[in-house]
Amino acid sequence: MQTRILAIDENSLNLSKQIILHGGAVAFPTETVYGLGANAFDTNAVENVFKIKGRPNDNPLIVHVHKNYDISTLVSYVPEYSKKLAKAYLPGPLTMVYKSCGKVSGAVSCGLDTLAIRIPSHEGAQKFLKHVNLPIAAPSANISKHVSPVTAEHVFSDLNGRIEVILDGGKCEGGIESTVLDCTGDIPVILRSGLITREMIAKIAGECGEYVLKDGEKARSPGMKYKHYSPDCKTMLFNFDERDKAVEEYSKFNNDGISAYILCDNKTAKLINVEKILNLGETECEIASNLYFKLREGEKKAQLIIAIAPENQDGVMVGVMNRLTKACK
Ligand code: TXA
Ligand code: MG
Repeated sequence: MQTRILAIDENSLNLSKQIILHGGAVAFPTETVYGLGANAFDTNAVENVFKIKGRPNDNPLIVHVHKNYDISTLVSYVPEYSKKLAKAYLPGPLTMVYKSCGKVSGAVSCGLDTLAIRIPSHEGAQKFLKHVNLPIAAPSANISKHVSPVTAEHVFSDLNGRIEVILDGGKCEGGIESTVLDCTGDIPVILRSGLITREMIAKIAGECGEYVLKDGEKARSPGMKYKHYSPDCKTMLFNFDERDKAVEEYSKFNNDGISAYILCDNKTAKLINVEKILNLGETECEIASNLYFKLREGEKKAQLIIAIAPENQDGVMVGVMNRLTKACK
């Protein structure tokens, strides 16, 4: 199968719709990362997405809908706090998990009785979702466990030959996946951190819990238990306080002929002043936005990525640290 990267226009949207209606999968941009979408009503189409990615079949998918889609047709109960959160933050990088009413294929949620729903804000995503006017089950458009894709070229390099069309919406601004929020209980609980932070949710909903997976416990969000976001090269991770040690390792490896790069934010870059650097930028939004982009750049040119964690680890940095830790396992 030949894979084409197409600009988002009338022709590519019509083609994408035909592919979706015939049970195929289309890669599309969102404000977080690229998704690989299929018709959520079509079990074969959804199962095919798991095959294309090599995704474990107990890790459920998020359903994406356009901003005027009536989600009460898909879920049985939407709590008041979710309605308030939707008003404040949607369309945007917040996925809410509800009790499903069983309309979409059981393959989407891998047999769970819940359904994760996301309304992305990216203009290209909205155009695609409006054009097909169906709930679209979409994981990130990477080979399972690899770094999530934030450009059409990243999708191409993972999925070339496995899908027909990648809709090109440029580089994703957000850069890390949406916050996943369990909305089935009395208070919302974060299952995966992202750009919509715990503080932002608590401000609107009054309270917000955070789910931490304990050793031996069954994951409430099955995606949490898997190795993830790993670049195709060796990695190491140091705390901000250990940055001198990181630089020592950097020098040692480069002197031994192993090309090592340091991945860190701009503040750290100024302090350590080394030559081979993957600079994530200054602000927390820049750092999130550049994380996967720089990990993918790094795996191309480095044999080893030595990451140094940012000093500040609050807010958006909770999500960044979650990905960085898993990437460097
Ligand atoms: O930003 C995003 O969320 C991107 C873009 C493409 O929208 N999508 C994404 O999908 O990151 P994926 O498949 O890579 O991650 C989905 C996460 C997993 O951690 C999964 O376990 C969780 O959402 N999830 C999906 N359905 C769930 C459910 N019913 N209950 C609990 N967790 C669920
Ligand atoms: Mg993913």
